[in-house]
Amino acid sequence: MYDCLFLGSQIIRLDEVDSTNIYATNLIKNQSKIITDGMIIYTDNQTNGRGQRGSAWETTPNKNLTFSIVLKPNLLINEQFILSKICALGILDFLTDLNIKNTSIKWPNDIYVGKQKIAGMLLENTLKNSKIEFCIAGIGVNINQTVFNEHLQQATSLQLITNKSYDLKSILNQLLFFIEKRYLQLKAGKLQQINKDYLNHLLGYNTERTYLINNQKVLGVINGVTPSGKLQLTHENNLHEYDMKEIGFVF
Ligand code: BTN
Repeated sequence: MYDCLFLGSQIIRLDEVDSTNIYATNLIKNQSKIITDGMIIYTDNQTNGRGQRGSAWETTPNKNLTFSIVLKPNLLINEQFILSKICALGILDFLTDLNIKNTSIKWPNDIYVGKQKIAGMLLENTLKNSKIEFCIAGIGVNINQTVFNEHLQQATSLQLITNKSYDLKSILNQLLFFIEKRYLQLKAGKLQQINKDYLNHLLGYNTERTYLINNQKVLGVINGVTPSGKLQLTHENNLHEYDMKEIGFVF
């Protein structure tokens, strides 16, 4: 039922690895010829998972999905953010299919259920002649973990939300199916639809919320995201663009 056309046709399963993104980076360096579009590096136990902005991504072994997809997207460097969008939307579609409500994307690509984060991603590109040669889309989704480190107060998982436990192998197939659907949408040139769906699910889009800018609380409205991924926010009647280090969300 959730069969993919090509995503995950090549899959490297590792009992343990420092980071699936690092593994994929080394594979690109040393054996790029064997990589097909949509290859997956999956692990049961990621020991040194990396998150955005140099943070760590911590998960309990055998409880969650931690994997990287290697894509060969044929995109220019300045179009890179569309890949974040399709991965985020794929995860949202997957959660919706599981009947999970209140999902949203916290810019740039954190997936939230209510006020809690259920999934994150770290996209790293290798470039060649102003194009993206490979995109490593590292994805972490909390599935069966029910206890999180104290400093991750905002974390949740599928099991915490539904009280059910999930088979990781079939839940991975299910998730890949929805990410592939969005990737196919991109390949078919349906950019307008992708952009529209992304904005429709973006936390704070067209609504006033509080943000932290230069350590100051600011009331603002998100108007959009640039193709390279900067957040466009109107506050004090002016449109500003921010990158990740420059702005924080207040919950
Ligand atoms: C974040 O929200 O900060 C991004 C988290 C990304 C985690 C995933 S897990 C698989 C892949 N390998 C890594 O080292 N990180 C990503």
